[in-house]
Amino acid sequence: MWSLKNKLFLWGIVLKPVKVGICGLGTVGSGSFNILLNNAEEITRRVGRSIVIEQVGARRDNDMCDTTGIKVTRDIFDVVNNPEIDIVLELIGGTSVAKELVLTAIENGKHVVTANKALIAEHGNEIFAKARDKGVIVAFEAAVAGGIPIIKSLREGLSANRIEWLAGIINGTGNFILSEMTEKNRNFDEVLAEAQALGYAEADPTFDIEGIDAAHKLTILASIAFGIPLQFEKTYTEGISRITSQDIEFANQLGYAIKHLGIARRTKAGIELRVHPTLISRKQLLANVNGVMNAIMVQGDVVGPTLTYGAGAGALPTGSSVIADVIDVARALTADPTNRVPHLAFQADSLSSVPILPVEEIECGFFLNMTIKDRAGVLANITQILSMNEISIESLIQREREGSELVPLVVMTHDVKERNMNAAIAAIEALPDVAGTVQRIRVENLA
Ligand code: HSE
Repeated sequence: MWSLKNKLFLWGIVLKPVKVGICGLGTVGSGSFNILLNNAEEITRRVGRSIVIEQVGARRDNDMCDTTGIKVTRDIFDVVNNPEIDIVLELIGGTSVAKELVLTAIENGKHVVTANKALIAEHGNEIFAKARDKGVIVAFEAAVAGGIPIIKSLREGLSANRIEWLAGIINGTGNFILSEMTEKNRNFDEVLAEAQALGYAEADPTFDIEGIDAAHKLTILASIAFGIPLQFEKTYTEGISRITSQDIEFANQLGYAIKHLGIARRTKAGIELRVHPTLISRKQLLANVNGVMNAIMVQGDVVGPTLTYGAGAGALPTGSSVIADVIDVARALTADPTNRVPHLAFQADSLSSVPILPVEEIECGFFLNMTIKDRAGVLANITQILSMNEISIESLIQREREGSELVPLVVMTHDVKERNMNAAIAAIEALPDVAGTVQRIRVENLA
């Protein structure tokens, strides 16, 4: 039974507004700022107390945010050192200053909400350890797949399951580019510039097109799915920059779409952790996720397959996840820290040391697109190399091109270890009748 003194103490906390400090007023910062103000009434009804913006730290003003009546500082460290603030929103991005900012906030006993996937994927193990020591929460729903509540879904909604695999379109910019190239035959650079103007792309867009952003997000998802430490450096990462319109056209003719997927799978030998362009059947739901939208399939042993879909980037969708975390933290302020949902879903002392597999050990189908001289014996040489490497062909298309002795050849294979495929490709590229390099795209059936 609660004593009267305890009840009065608790009511004092319950009635007191929760004070938030926002660091960074860029795309996500401005979206989060406006959601907190515009949906204040609905948020108070959910939390049972109001959430107010106590201070904003930003290098410059943002026309989208009316900061009248709110303290604004140019020094973000003022925010984490402000004794009034309960929850710090780290929305500046990057890893060096952001890490210092978050560690200072934790040191000062503040809860942290961040949208920073690079920070969590690369420094999360250290940050969570410090947060545990200090009894504070570090929440990061917005770090993965923008507005989709995939962290909450994996960490709480699916917590009865042994997760077998997950596969997702987790970079909005990359999906936007591939979708526009597929549907409208648009040029890569032009679509990327549009994604930047719309605020989808990272400050350094190579993070989007070379797969680094998706690898950060996959690292986080895999840790929560399988209960393993964050291991960004072991994630195999390949972007979309080398995908051509011809690859997309041939894949389409064979009934496939090319999507940039993050795949994490539990196997007997270890865990596959890989980000790369992937052919998937056009009949798959994931193949029909277009534009900036993201979607993640999760296969649990008891639930079976699940799919979540939504906007993967943008001010308001990402702000939606940031503020959902703020609400969760505000609700948990009075809870015993030992009874909170663990940062990585599993108890920190129960994380598993199961190895991450090197990409050579991973098995999948392959789509090979190459240019060959249209001469007797070329096909025979290629099929012999594939057979010597124990690679079985599923289908093969050779296209005529008038007036040229060079013709495109597309080969689809059954599942094979990447190691065998590397050996076969090296041998094929060494054939005098094969021009240039062999384009290789992995194929998944998502079964
Ligand atoms: N650049 C990211 C994307 C933003 O395009 O998905 C959201 O993380």
